[in-house]
Amino acid sequence: MQLGVPGETTPGERRVAATPATVQKLIKWGYQVVVEAGAGAGAKIDDAAYVDAGATIDPTGDAAWGADVVFKVNAPRTRGEGHEVDRLTEGATIASLVFPVGKEDLLKRYAAKKVTGMALDQVPRISRAQKMDVLSSMANIAGYRAVIEASHHYSGFFAGQMTAAGRTRPAQVLVIGAGVAGLAAIAAARGLGAEVYAFDVRPAVKEQVESLGARFLLLDVAMEGGETSGGYANIMSDEFIAAEMALFREKAADVDIVITTALIPGKKAPILFTEDMVKIMKTGGVVVDLAAEQGGNCAVTEPEKVCVKHGVTIIGYTDMTSRLAAHASQFFATNLTHLLDDMGRHEDFKVDLEDIVVRKALVAHAGEVTWPCPPEVEEKARVAAQPPKPKAPVEAHKPAPVAKSSGVSNFLKGFATSVVGVAALFGIGVYAPPEFMQHFTVFVLSCFIGWQVIWNVSPALHTPLMSVTNAISGIIIVGGILQASSGSVDLATILGAVAVLVASINIAGGFLVTQRMLAMFRKGA
Ligand code: NAI
Repeated sequence: MQLGVPGETTPGERRVAATPATVQKLIKWGYQVVVEAGAGAGAKIDDAAYVDAGATIDPTGDAAWGADVVFKVNAPRTRGEGHEVDRLTEGATIASLVFPVGKEDLLKRYAAKKVTGMALDQVPRISRAQKMDVLSSMANIAGYRAVIEASHHYSGFFAGQMTAAGRTRPAQVLVIGAGVAGLAAIAAARGLGAEVYAFDVRPAVKEQVESLGARFLLLDVAMEGGETSGGYANIMSDEFIAAEMALFREKAADVDIVITTALIPGKKAPILFTEDMVKIMKTGGVVVDLAAEQGGNCAVTEPEKVCVKHGVTIIGYTDMTSRLAAHASQFFATNLTHLLDDMGRHEDFKVDLEDIVVRKALVAHAGEVTWPCPPEVEEKARVAAQPPKPKAPVEAHKPAPVAKSSGVSNFLKGFATSVVGVAALFGIGVYAPPEFMQHFTVFVLSCFIGWQVIWNVSPALHTPLMSVTNAISGIIIVGGILQASSGSVDLATILGAVAVLVASINIAGGFLVTQRMLAMFRKGA
């Protein structure tokens, strides 16, 4: 079976659907990989790297398009007189982004050619499909890049500075929408030292926002109902949107950078940052509108462009992921191979209509348009996306039932063990040689004291305690060396050598654990 990777033809696209690393994997699975010449150029992957990975380079692209399975970033499109779908072989499988709303013509072309079309953007956001979720991996990159683009246009420091020449306060960043892209933007802005505020209609993200070191803005109106069971946002009431906008208007005067990512899947992006808020912002401020492709969250965004309005730079790029083409290609290509893995790799490759991930992503198959997928599959995907119900906490903390006779029987058990122990010690004392008894007494006492000491330390402190007390093993090493250097080869010498070895491992391990724990408390470790 051949797997083709044609070059991308969408203007400005620099990503590629396979990297040398994924090509190696595909070849291992049994595919012959054909890459169109120059397909990786935008992501700085040259043809030679694909050849080294085992792929064949196709100078015209015909072989790549004509393969049994085709990997693409963007869906096929009209080019000149023809359409790229015409270059596909009848019955082939093509996996790419499709965004099928409004793409009926493409889906019909797939069906006419009996092509199996997989839309990566339709993969449900369920845990099992996370490794195939291209939208999440791309949004993560877009969020990071939004901060980098903002820093390029913002003429100040992100982290506050304190120098002999004066002080500057940290840049104030507002992130609207804390989904995948928003959280990545928060992490990147915090990493550069900015003070970050975030808002989302889903109160569930508050903890995630705070764990990244940002402040979650709260509204006076109730926050309930912001989240669907699938983890996406709900459409909010006009009253809520008005309250939210009042919050942004209040914050606008203070923030230097605004990054908007608010989106409800399948809907036009809500306008949340109006022109008057842009006016209120300080001159030199920056707004990065990641939702530009869906119309934008900012009223004055010009999609794909950078414009300056009221002294504020508004960035409406829709190709943020392409601006980080190498890593975006790496993630995209890995997501694609995971999808192929889910579909049976090479030998067991099949379109399993019972697999909700495959069924959700399937837009055309066996001469039929299969999008949108049937409501029962949607329902299954919705149920699968629901977070697992927490197990009944009350049950979990219930004390174990105590047997009525336990007090008496425990006493009897303890008494019997003590009697057996004392009898055994008495027996040893009567029959063992006196020099053995001396060592044995020290051994029994050290076991007893060691047990008592460790038992009374709280479990949370066992690791640090052990890592330090392991140094006591040094004493064992000294004893072991004295035994092992006696000159003769007998049991005591061998045991001495073993003691030196084991105690050395103990000491090294103790210091290693201590070192790791200290590193956890060091800044930047
Ligand atoms: P997501 O669905 O994970 O996150 C969107 C967030 O917006 C959700 O947390 C949602 O609760 C929140 N939201 C919805 N309505 C809101 C409102 N009224 N107020 C506040 N928050 C609200 O989406 P993801 O994957 O993080 O993508 C975010 C945006 O980034 C999308 O618009 C996507 O198209 C865009 N994107 C842009 C790229 C570019 O190059 N410009 C590249 C990749 C993604």
